[in-house]
Amino acid sequence: MTASPLIMMVDPAHYEVSYQINPWMEPGTWAADSQANGERARASFAALRSALTGAGARVTTVAGIAGLPDMVFPANAAVVLDRRVLVARFAWPQRQGETDAFVETFAALARHNIIEEVATFPEDSVHEGAGDAIWDQRRRFFWAGHGQRTNLAGVHAVEDFFRQKTVRLELATPDYYHLDTCFCPLSGGHVLYYPKAFTEEGLRTIEAHVAPEQRIVASDEDAAALCVNAVNLGRTVVMAKAPPALRARLEAAGYEVREVDLGPFILSGGAAYCMTLRLDRSSDPA
Ligand code: ARG
Repeated sequence: MTASPLIMMVDPAHYEVSYQINPWMEPGTWAADSQANGERARASFAALRSALTGAGARVTTVAGIAGLPDMVFPANAAVVLDRRVLVARFAWPQRQGETDAFVETFAALARHNIIEEVATFPEDSVHEGAGDAIWDQRRRFFWAGHGQRTNLAGVHAVEDFFRQKTVRLELATPDYYHLDTCFCPLSGGHVLYYPKAFTEEGLRTIEAHVAPEQRIVASDEDAAALCVNAVNLGRTVVMAKAPPALRARLEAAGYEVREVDLGPFILSGGAAYCMTLRLDRSSDPA
């Protein structure tokens, strides 16, 4: 029997929207009622956490740091596979302090034997972690997003460190700035994705690897609700409040959808997947 999924989350005590580094972020809306927004964020975080544990995951919640509000999106902290961790090198100065903070976090997890090895991306590279390197357990390779927050040197560093196949997908728009905002491989081999986020070549690459009957194409509305940014655990898909048509299509494909109100985090351009980091991904056949 395989152990249940292990997910890292970051406590939202220091979460806020205080700068703008993607088109979704609204510091003014946040500031207009920061206290209520902070409370809503904490409730929303708790609801996501319980949806994940309800779907069978173990969640370890680590502390955030004041002044680094986007730590609450640990999908960007690192790429993790086979208990080996490559800690991100962030594109924007506002997030660059997270690298040292997460190195500390992973060092602590290593002391608890949860992971084995911690390294950082080389200096010439920019890479925002599991947001741009999504392990496809079914196909056993990394889908590698680049072109917005992550550069090709970052993709090469993932290849060198993990020695696994990567399939590159170039992102075409600042609205869908991490691969996880527009692309989600599912346990049954389906892929939920938003075509407009990709270059022509990126789209052709997806179509070359994913059979037509496995493609679940997100609508503008699905993408704008950040529902593609979902966490898939077995047959369960945990996501932000979803348009009914998306829910119906996923159910028809054999999945059970659990929706969580993630409004306070969507105000920063993040949703379910961004708020998690799988620590237990393994390159072994499942
Ligand atoms: N405000 C954050 C940023 O712009 C949101 C990150 C969302 N994370 C993700 N993996 N898509 O960096």
